[in-house]
Amino acid sequence: MRPLSAKIAAIAPSATIEITEKARKMQAAGTDVISLSIGEPDFPTPAHITKACIDALNRGETHYTAGKGIPELLNAIAGKIVQENKIPCTPDQVIVGCGAKNSIYEACEAVLSPGDEAVILDPSWVSYEPCVQIAGGVPVHHPMHPKTFQVDDTVLEKISEKTRMLIINSPSNPSGVILNNESLRLISDICQDHDLIVISDEIYEKLIYRKTHISIGAFPGMEDRTITVNGFSKAYAMTGWRLGYAVASKEIIGYMNKVQQHTISHPTTFAMYGGVAALKGPQECIEEMRFEFEKRCSYVLKSMEEMGLSYAPADGAFYAYVKVDGNDAEVATHWLEKGHVAVTPGSAFHHPGWIRISYAASMDRLKEAMNRISAAL
Ligand SMILES: Cc1ncc(COP(=O)(O)O)c(C=O)c1O
Repeated sequence: MRPLSAKIAAIAPSATIEITEKARKMQAAGTDVISLSIGEPDFPTPAHITKACIDALNRGETHYTAGKGIPELLNAIAGKIVQENKIPCTPDQVIVGCGAKNSIYEACEAVLSPGDEAVILDPSWVSYEPCVQIAGGVPVHHPMHPKTFQVDDTVLEKISEKTRMLIINSPSNPSGVILNNESLRLISDICQDHDLIVISDEIYEKLIYRKTHISIGAFPGMEDRTITVNGFSKAYAMTGWRLGYAVASKEIIGYMNKVQQHTISHPTTFAMYGGVAALKGPQECIEEMRFEFEKRCSYVLKSMEEMGLSYAPADGAFYAYVKVDGNDAEVATHWLEKGHVAVTPGSAFHHPGWIRISYAASMDRLKEAMNRISAAL
């Protein structure tokens, strides 16, 4: 048989597969493995959101609907983006997808022609590179500043005639770092000087400790150059609902909609009613989760300090990002084998020598995990 797609063959297998597989086998064999490799909140979806979805089901909202999303949700998202993110936005500048991941993929398809380069800042979330590749683009990686994890002008070395897009993520998965005003100003200037588009992944926007979130789409001159991506998974503990969205110029949204029409059609109709309830309903649920994550963040970072490990200046998301001596995959395997704690090696994020610890686990489990890592060290 002739080989399957060369494009898909070129996509690197996830650097986490080996360790995840090992953790799974240990669990199946009865070992009490504490999983700190999870990328989802350990809270249930708030009840008023679930109820809105059940009500929609009971009303018979079980059929095809508008391609870019139900009007109620497009309106609610546009309202939120104007009010909270200070980005000019009308409902026809919004498209709802099956998770932020789906929106990021559609954005890459909409912008990139074959061979166009997309600059990705490392450490970077695992799916940016494959999304660019599947869309026919070429990922070009560039490291963040090694200490501050901010963007500096060395990124200009990676901008060429072929560059079409930059991808930024604040707060960051895996580092938890929030991009400051200077980093965003630099990206904005580069985009405007070199005629580039930026995907700004703001999925962890609500999970911020101490600092404030700034959207690059609100910078003057960036209105038509920014694809702001966000979703419900992290802020409202709705990972399984597969609901996310993108906000951009009408032209970009039109291109994304073509991809959407011929692939997913639209996100699940009744799930979108849950999205409306999330945005329009009480927001205290976010603060309760954020407050809990902040306590855990402080606890994990303090524990790291006590163990003599340095870490990225995390102010958001639910990850601590820790520097380790030696090969990160070997250290993660050692923590798993000796301490029965599963974490994610930085290599998965194109950033060897570091380890991501998710604190989306109860305080009791985190305490036990820190004791075990300390003993394994
Ligand atoms: C940085 C980042 N962007 C996007 C996503 C995708 O989120 P969704 O569940 O909305 O597809 C994740 C999920 O882990 C993420 O960490």
